Amino acid sequence: MSQTPASRPQSGSPLLAALGGRPISPPPIWLMRQAGRYLPEYRDLRAKAGSFLKLCYDPDLASEVTLQPVRRFDFDAAILFADILIVPHALGQDVGFAEGEGPRLDAVTTRRALDRLSLTATEEKFATICETVTRVRRELSPEKALIGFCGAPWTVATYMIAGRGTPDQAPARSLAYHEPELVADLIDLLVETSIRYLSNQIEAGADVVQLFDSWAGSLPDDQFAKWVIEPTARIVHQLQVKHPGVPVIGFPRGAGPLSVRYIEQTGIDAIGCDTSLPLDTMRDDLAPRAVVQGNLDPLLLLAGGEAMLRRVDQILTHLDGTAHIFNLGHGIVPQTPPEHVAQLVDHIRLTQR
Ligand code: CP3
Repeated sequence: MSQTPASRPQSGSPLLAALGGRPISPPPIWLMRQAGRYLPEYRDLRAKAGSFLKLCYDPDLASEVTLQPVRRFDFDAAILFADILIVPHALGQDVGFAEGEGPRLDAVTTRRALDRLSLTATEEKFATICETVTRVRRELSPEKALIGFCGAPWTVATYMIAGRGTPDQAPARSLAYHEPELVADLIDLLVETSIRYLSNQIEAGADVVQLFDSWAGSLPDDQFAKWVIEPTARIVHQLQVKHPGVPVIGFPRGAGPLSVRYIEQTGIDAIGCDTSLPLDTMRDDLAPRAVVQGNLDPLLLLAGGEAMLRRVDQILTHLDGTAHIFNLGHGIVPQTPPEHVAQLVDHIRLTQR
């Protein structure tokens, strides 16, 4: 990368302090999908851009969208505005986001389709996304961390193979049984591409990176070892070699009891916990091994009020004394009233002083 690294917050960032293993009170807070359709200021820029992909590839608009929730709610971190499906798009796959229907891709289920994808094709698109990273880091105050991200190989592969979102990832799971070598080659390409993409983001100014493995929980344990743990371990290891000290957060949604071996065998610094992980498990089994992040139910943020605040208190009490990052167990849903988010942040900051 030709860009000079932006100024990094060496100290004073609650998120980086927690990621360094220090229990912080109140815990640092950011929310998955904190930029998005629940914010009127996002909807304005989204309309201006015309399409979701145009928004992702416009560093002016994408950096503004990244900063919007940090300005409005004073979160401890910004997360790069992009999507996990930028990687297949940059590799040369047709990717589109149909209004109200979610992503549509030209499915990759044959050797021929896989051979058409190319790591060298990604350079220009990754540089555009990294321009957003550089601009955001320049605008953010030093105590706010900037999170870069990509999808983990298994989750990205599920969309590439099915050509769309599915409830159970049956197309990818099936192909992995019928043609394990083809899927292994696709996963290898995604490992290599993810290392390149995340390194570029770190060089452009990302302080932390997160791997979104939203469909990790769709696999039985032997397949989980092969398609989730092993590829993730390779990415984490390479990032540690190239960028020592830059923390990596993994979000293996649905991993449940496999979470302990996910931490131990990938070498990840922090684990994003989904809504279904018990707080006892997070405190007793996960927190001794990694920094824990999560796990308020996004539907409780949608509901708001006393029910939400009671559960927030349970989370804070259970995880008191551990290095914990407050977050949701999955992304914010578009119907969420922004006032509930403000109420959540105020509550955490006021009750934990
Ligand atoms: O967290 C953030 O604020 C950063 C931006 C971000 C988006 N998507 C923006 C987005 C991040 C980190 C993602 C991750 C992502 N994208 C995941 C992993 C996390 C998860 O939710 O499980 C997945 C599986 C995707 C793929 C994806 N992108 C889907 C299935 C959809 C359609 C569903 C939907 O919510 O619309 C998207 C589109 C998308 N990604 C939008 C946003 C703001 C909405 C697009 C729009 O504005 O029209």
